[in-house]
Amino acid sequence: MIRRVLIVTGGLGFIGKHFVRRCLELGNYVTNIDNMNYAADLVVNEEFMQHDNYRFVQEDITELKHIIEAEYIVNFAAESHVDNSIVDNQKFCRTNILGTQRLLELTRSRMSAAPYFVQISTDEVYGDTVEGIHTENHPLRPSNPYSSTKAAADMLLHGWSRTYDLDYNILRISNNYGPHQYPEKLIPRSLWRMSRGLPAIMHGDGTYCRVWLHVEDTVNAILTVLDNGEKNTIYNISGDTELENFEVLRRIAKIANMPESDAIQTVKNRVGQDLRYNMDDSRIRALGWKPTRDFDTSLREIAETINTERFL
Ligand SMILES: NC(=O)c1ccc[n+]([C@@H]2O[C@H](COP(=O)([O-])OP(=O)(O)OC[C@H]3O[C@@H](n4cnc5c(N)ncnc54)[C@H](O)[C@@H]3O)[C@@H](O)[C@H]2O)c1
Repeated sequence: MIRRVLIVTGGLGFIGKHFVRRCLELGNYVTNIDNMNYAADLVVNEEFMQHDNYRFVQEDITELKHIIEAEYIVNFAAESHVDNSIVDNQKFCRTNILGTQRLLELTRSRMSAAPYFVQISTDEVYGDTVEGIHTENHPLRPSNPYSSTKAAADMLLHGWSRTYDLDYNILRISNNYGPHQYPEKLIPRSLWRMSRGLPAIMHGDGTYCRVWLHVEDTVNAILTVLDNGEKNTIYNISGDTELENFEVLRRIAKIANMPESDAIQTVKNRVGQDLRYNMDDSRIRALGWKPTRDFDTSLREIAETINTERFL
């Protein structure tokens, strides 16, 4: 078994913590840098601390002074919620752009021992998929401050790699869901509300489409790229479950045993709402990855784990 030495940023966030847990189980050495913002899961950090191969650094990536020697740096740290970015985009520019720039600078300062940089990006950088699907070669046309800052970070990777000879992968991932996601996101928020007899909140008419990917499938995809990915390559990581938001809420209502008529409260549509995201992920599938988790079964499992107190 290959044991890796990894720096992970944002490893107390939703996707990061599932990745860190798997890495620790595999015997890898993980240094997790996280500033513990509102979305960080403090309970999971206690769990990770039980592992000898885990080290935690509470630090803001924009203020980081040095990084330890490592084979990989996997950058999950981000301000990640679109609605927040519409209200106040400053933090998004700071963490998502300047934070990535800081990490790239620290990476290149290690010269020949520079870690391999894995940037966790999003399908949202492409903007609307009006027809067909986006390949990795499509232009980036982000529609909101969150996706703009993520697209900017992707561009930094390109420029730093070409100029300073850094090796990287960019992974553009579709909407993730799974256990213990911060309850600002559609699925945990709606499960939590309906479990208390409250209606879920739906922007507009809910006819916009997203592809849903279970976080464990995402972790497998990241590990597949670490194992077999081609250097300096972008990978779309999508999945097979494309659904309108309205349909997602309908399925949650079924799990919560709520009549559809009581289950959904409509609010004004989000400004700049993208109608559809969908990516061609044949490049990563050619490496042997494919999603394995069934959406409805997973929703039922997540419903059992809804615990918003975890984040208070
Ligand atoms: N959740 C999704 O559906 C999704 C989909 C595609 C891509 N992504 C990307 O995946 C990554 C992880 O997303 P997530 O949903 O787990 O996010 P999250 O908001 O749940 O977690 C982000 C983590 O980063 C930490 N963090 C934030 N700012 C930081 C800073 N300045 N310094 C250090 N740590 C900081 C937070 O404390 C938190 O633990 C992000 O880069 C996001 O853009 C997420």
